[in-house]
Amino acid sequence: MLSKGSNFISLSDFTKEDILATLSLIQSYDDQNLKRFIPNKKKLLANLFYEPSTRTSSSFFSAATLLGHEVLSINEVKFSSVAKGETLEDTIRTLASYVHCIVLRHPEEGSAKKAAAVSDVPIVNAGDGTGEHPTQTLLDVYTIWKHWQKLDGLTITLMGDLKYGRTIHSLIEVLKKFDVNINLIGPKDLRLPKTYGSYLESTELTENLAMGTDVLYMTRVQKERGAKGNYALTKLDAENLPPSSIVMHPLPRVDELPTWFDSDPRAKYFEQMQNGLAVRKCLLDRILG
Ligand code: NCD
Repeated sequence: MLSKGSNFISLSDFTKEDILATLSLIQSYDDQNLKRFIPNKKKLLANLFYEPSTRTSSSFFSAATLLGHEVLSINEVKFSSVAKGETLEDTIRTLASYVHCIVLRHPEEGSAKKAAAVSDVPIVNAGDGTGEHPTQTLLDVYTIWKHWQKLDGLTITLMGDLKYGRTIHSLIEVLKKFDVNINLIGPKDLRLPKTYGSYLESTELTENLAMGTDVLYMTRVQKERGAKGNYALTKLDAENLPPSSIVMHPLPRVDELPTWFDSDPRAKYFEQMQNGLAVRKCLLDRILG
């Protein structure tokens, strides 16, 4: 569970009850008077990003600043000693002696764990290669839970780059803890690695699959990781999806989620992105104490 000084690397150690308790806690940071959360003691957070980011880095920045903390942003690692060949471990040891918490995004799977092993301050995993993206997962699950008021009993269809998308990998690990029906849609070359489990897999969102879907969670092709593929939400898919369903996407989107869908009441992705602030405020408040 989230506690003062704890790392946040993965949700795999969270039980179903831990997840539900965390979602209720996040809700207390959602639409609240920010002043309530201004701490007595200002802390310093490092946002260390070795990969591009808009939402994750800026929502961590906002969350920390709104909580009254300060942020050291290092997102152009080419201007740091990383460009001189410094290892991740040495960079982490250095920052850990100047700040109270490090938010890390890195292209290598397992990097957050590696960083936590040498850090004197908590490490928050903001995405480790194709591995996990647990803070994104919290906001994804929070969005579903807030809309449906439950997770058990839902049919969730994951459509996109199932092979390289870390948001998919993290999300599946949490959904597995619930009584959720998971369907997978994606190109043959971008199938889910078997380590995450076996589910009904299809290359297309058929009428039947669409009609039974409560949540359609889409992702882009992870081109920077060598992925190739073509798929998109069609007008027919939109017709087949039930009126009560929601469509989510961690963003950024490319061509798979057309802008004509944005005005559809089932489009949840902008609200999903907004929920990232409550999640990161809650997380930092808990960890920084
Ligand atoms: C995701 C990521 O970085 O994994 N973006 C995000 O944090 N919202 C999704 C992606 O890049 O496709």
